[in-house]
Amino acid sequence: MRPIDLRPLIADPHGTLAALREAGPVHRVQGADGNPAWLVTRYEDVRRALADPRLSLDKRNAKPGNYAGLSLPPALDANLLNMDPPDHTRVRRLVVKAFTPGRVEKLREPVRRLADGLLDAVEPAGAADLLAAYAGPLPIMVMCDLLGIPQERRLDFRAWTDALITPDPARPEAAREAVGNMIRFFTGLIAAKRAEPADDLLSDLIAVRDAGDRLSEDELTSLAFLLLFAGYENTVHLIANSVLALLDHPEELRALRKNPDGLAAAVEELNRWDGPGPLAIRRFPLEDVEIGGVTVPAGETVLLSLASANRDPARFPDPDRLDLHRNNSGSLALGHGIHYCLGAALGRMETETALAALLDRFEKLELAVPREELKWRPSIRARGLISLPVRWSATSRTRF
Ligand code: HEM
Repeated sequence: MRPIDLRPLIADPHGTLAALREAGPVHRVQGADGNPAWLVTRYEDVRRALADPRLSLDKRNAKPGNYAGLSLPPALDANLLNMDPPDHTRVRRLVVKAFTPGRVEKLREPVRRLADGLLDAVEPAGAADLLAAYAGPLPIMVMCDLLGIPQERRLDFRAWTDALITPDPARPEAAREAVGNMIRFFTGLIAAKRAEPADDLLSDLIAVRDAGDRLSEDELTSLAFLLLFAGYENTVHLIANSVLALLDHPEELRALRKNPDGLAAAVEELNRWDGPGPLAIRRFPLEDVEIGGVTVPAGETVLLSLASANRDPARFPDPDRLDLHRNNSGSLALGHGIHYCLGAALGRMETETALAALLDRFEKLELAVPREELKWRPSIRARGLISLPVRWSATSRTRF
């Protein structure tokens, strides 16, 4: 049978996934590069597979000819999402402390100040592309501060990331150039911090690297890259997708405005309902593995659909309904198992803070273009808008 084309996921991810989930637990599909993969659709199978040590993230376990995801050189690819234990355990242990809920809570006020500053800049205009003016800059400013990256470099990094996530068919060399630029950027930055350490996470990681053998130079650049990339990309789109979902559900928004204490639970639901990461990172079975009654041969590519699992009616009753009061324990939007999102607490806090600052400021917020004119990025791996034009007509600063 011909592999299923996943491109319809871009225009209608949840409808397409519902049909696939109904039709079967595992499907032969074409990955983003056209090479074959296996798509897993149901909650229990996805959750079990996320924690299955027989499913490797290390590309060296991939059989040639299968979808293998982004192709990056070792200076960026020696990262946690391309690693299995024991290397994964060793590297993750070095950074996990920087992202504990306690450490992250201390950042809430500084993040709120950054959010308020961005809103101060756009408020007089009465309208803005919220993605370019707010959801986009905020997470990268936070990660730049954490890592110790000069703020003026953040626009470069955003352009490079976009070139990787949504390659321009008219300029196939752009993604390659972006990779070259990123490597130069991180090696230059690390050399500068090595010469002059500061009070930031990157200087700490360099000190760990230089104190012993615990991190190779490729692992150091790759870790800096992954933190910036993962810390930026998903959070931008969780914020923007959440704003859109709230505008699409005025009653839920009204209830949330009345009960700001419900914000944390609301963010869990917004992430389950239309989060930015519809697929987990591709995995490669170390041996033939049975998933949902289907045997997936060793070395072939497994795509675990987090978006489909999170709308599986067998796990979440009435799953297509956005219900900000739902109990979302068990949501897979941030992964599960040893690769569970390292930045989960940070991403949640940033999204809560971004939404709070926005709702606090603008009492009446609405789309500035007809709903059907909104465009999604042409990627099956990243669920995010290209722009989010909104306008506001009344401001207040008291609600949240
Ligand atoms: C707020 C939105 C975010 C979402 C929806 C999200 C989602 C995810 C998911 C689903 C995974 C697991 C991937 C897999 O197993 O295939 C993951 C891993 C990861 N995330 Fe996040 N993430 C978010 C924010 C962040 C932030 C702010 C950081 C910043 C540090 C971050 C850093 C990472 C890292 C380093 C990993 C790899 C962990 C490992 O392999 O051990 N993420 N994320």
